[in-house]
Amino acid sequence: MTDQLLAYSPFDPAMITDPYPVYRELRDHAPVYWSAEASSWVLSRYDDVAAALGDPATYSSASGVYPTPPGVDMTELFLPMLVMSDPPRHTQLRQIVSKAFTPRRVAALEAGVHTIIDELLTQAPATGTWDFVSGLSGPLPAMVIADLLGVPRADQDRFRTWSTTLIQSNPIRGEMGVGLEAAAALYDYFSTFLAERRAHPEDDLMTALVHAEVDGQYLSEEELLGFCLLLLVAGHETTTNLLSNGAVLLAAHPESRQQLAEDPDLVPPAVEELLRYDSPIQGIGRTLTRPVELHGQRMEAGQSVLLLFGSANRDDRAFPDAEVFDIGRRPERHLGLGRGIHFCLGAALARMETRIAVQALLSRRTFGWDVDLPAAVRLDSGPIRGYAALPVR
Ligand code: HEM
Repeated sequence: MTDQLLAYSPFDPAMITDPYPVYRELRDHAPVYWSAEASSWVLSRYDDVAAALGDPATYSSASGVYPTPPGVDMTELFLPMLVMSDPPRHTQLRQIVSKAFTPRRVAALEAGVHTIIDELLTQAPATGTWDFVSGLSGPLPAMVIADLLGVPRADQDRFRTWSTTLIQSNPIRGEMGVGLEAAAALYDYFSTFLAERRAHPEDDLMTALVHAEVDGQYLSEEELLGFCLLLLVAGHETTTNLLSNGAVLLAAHPESRQQLAEDPDLVPPAVEELLRYDSPIQGIGRTLTRPVELHGQRMEAGQSVLLLFGSANRDDRAFPDAEVFDIGRRPERHLGLGRGIHFCLGAALARMETRIAVQALLSRRTFGWDVDLPAAVRLDSGPIRGYAALPVR
């Protein structure tokens, strides 16, 4: 084992630029690794991460799923629901929200996604440098979620400001207060909005959520608010980072970009390869409900476990030549959107937004975009991988 490996922590700044060599060391030499900084076991091999995701009775989500340094309690930020629940409550909640968050509702957003992307790309300068994050990958998911919920256009600027503040407040840097203020403003907004939709139903997700029912059970007011905020948190920065990471990868692989430009049907499987190769969510936490012995290492009940999706997706044991970015690969088994009962509820939406954005970028004058990597600013949000700023030419 190397010194670097022994110091592994999801919060280590050295991991931000390129965690992948360290992941390989973990997989090969310490597949069950104790990270003192994260007070957590770390699982890095594909089979182990996939098995944990398939066993929610042992690997519980109820104590939170976002690994944080000691002293930071993220559950303060979110009304715990869905993503932080276990069966049987999770099964009920997921059934109820699935009644409202339907494939039809997602498909109906497609025309709007095209329009938003066109509007955002029109604002890009014809020459010179443009910040991809503030220009496209940041606003796009926020606007789409606002449309999905039914937030009126007139309110969308406020909505986006709160949402961006919430997403960018980094508890690891002690910015919890700012995040809580933005969350409170959003809760206030959603409360008023919910009351309005109860009185005057519309054909939008908010109205559908109010009326969604399974076996006579509805979402409580608190659960409704929590779910709206979860959609923002789960669907905003993740999609932003997939788009940004994708822009960087495609700029670095001009031959793949050329192929995609010539045959847009190759874009959907390429999006899966982006999700595998440089996934925005590098790791998700669970808590053990019983002792587990794995690769000769005993983990105790009550201990945290970080499931390193980013490493599992680069495991040669699961994907041949896993370190190679290959848009011809069909990496259906990747874990970029999770797996099992908590599999990403917004997967179809994330895939649609990314496909349309990539196709739009390839079909325009922006086709030859180039990334100014030395001037790019990486996020330092622990296991969230992406960019705070990404100048493109
Ligand atoms: C590229 C973008 C996205 C990525 C990489 C991503 C990734 C993930 C992952 C890995 C999980 C599993 C969490 C776990 O196992 O604990 C998850 C869950 C979830 N995602 Fe996404 N997501 C994306 C976009 C979205 C969007 C656009 C939405 C909705 C608008 C969304 C809503 C959710 C929700 C509600 C859950 C919780 C599901 C549950 O606990 O049953 N996600 N996502």
